[in-house]
Amino acid sequence: MSTAAFDTAVKNLETKGFLDIELDPTLDLFSEIEKLKKEKNAVLLAHYYQEPDIQDVADYIGDSLGLAQQAEKTKADMIVFAGVHFMAETAKILNPNKKVLLPDLNAGCSLSDSCPPALFKKFKEQHPDHKVVSYINCSAGIKALSDVICTSSNAKYIVESFPKEQPLIFAPDRNLGAYISKTTGRDMVLWNGACMVHEIFSLEKITKLKVRHPEAKLIAHPECEEPVLRLADYIGSTTGLLKYTQTDDTQSYIVATETGILHQMMKASPHKTFIPAPPNNSCACNDCPHMKLNTLEKLYLCMKYEQPEILMEESLRQAALKPIKRMLEISKQAGI
Ligand code: 13P
Ligand code: SF4
Repeated sequence: MSTAAFDTAVKNLETKGFLDIELDPTLDLFSEIEKLKKEKNAVLLAHYYQEPDIQDVADYIGDSLGLAQQAEKTKADMIVFAGVHFMAETAKILNPNKKVLLPDLNAGCSLSDSCPPALFKKFKEQHPDHKVVSYINCSAGIKALSDVICTSSNAKYIVESFPKEQPLIFAPDRNLGAYISKTTGRDMVLWNGACMVHEIFSLEKITKLKVRHPEAKLIAHPECEEPVLRLADYIGSTTGLLKYTQTDDTQSYIVATETGILHQMMKASPHKTFIPAPPNNSCACNDCPHMKLNTLEKLYLCMKYEQPEILMEESLRQAALKPIKRMLEISKQAGI
């Protein structure tokens, strides 16, 4: 591409976004992405909820904790984050001197959006003796107001790292908070937020599926509502769910989380059956509209033009870094 054509493409990105760039349909995006990774010393981190093509080209696929741990230890110059904004933002908080890219800057999170920092600050002021444990699915502004961050795979250890008599606020996911309250016996003050993907599962349809497939186990993410969790045979983070299907000897599973995880489940256990738990609407499965904004095309363009980039104010970054570091230390001590 000539310099002028490159400048025009970058201008297009800045003003109109990727949609206006026409890609040569014969381009082998998989090999182009591999080439760009080497050329730019970039690492591609992807969450399990990404579309299968993106998972297949990623250097690392994981849950939110695994991804944060990878972001902390990478030696790459550039981190390309195939996930949602709060995940890429966490990578940037940990790596102020690296370029962190997110294929679609609009890939947000309904759970994160349910907890605006200004409102949360007031909520926190109403509980001055409480420490704040925040689920990683929140903005840097919320992280900066927190004592420690947790994910679905370490929340129990993080909560138990506080003395029993220490009152706690748990934000922003009320479902994960209620589940951790139950498993730890800690009475926490919960922020009233939820994930649009996990709160939409239909208990009625899941019950019918269980009747039709009595041999299948129900496995669920802790962001699901309590009635679904009550029915579950196993509850865990996306990594926990995947590992469970690999080690457990059951042959079929009803999976109550975002459908992207089924790709790795089927790859790891091709002879097993995985049935996505149905949502409370006319769809048969349950995709996260934010996660699915990223596509292979956008991923390629973002690596080629090094846009859109995650940028943040240094004082906010430093305030948000402390509780993330604390989470990573506690996880290391707990061996997760
Ligand atoms: P984990 O990655 O911790 O399993 O959480 C799932 C999720 O909702 C990420 O947005
Ligand atoms: Fe947010 Fe839920 Fe989508 Fe995860 S699945 S990114 S929590 S909306």
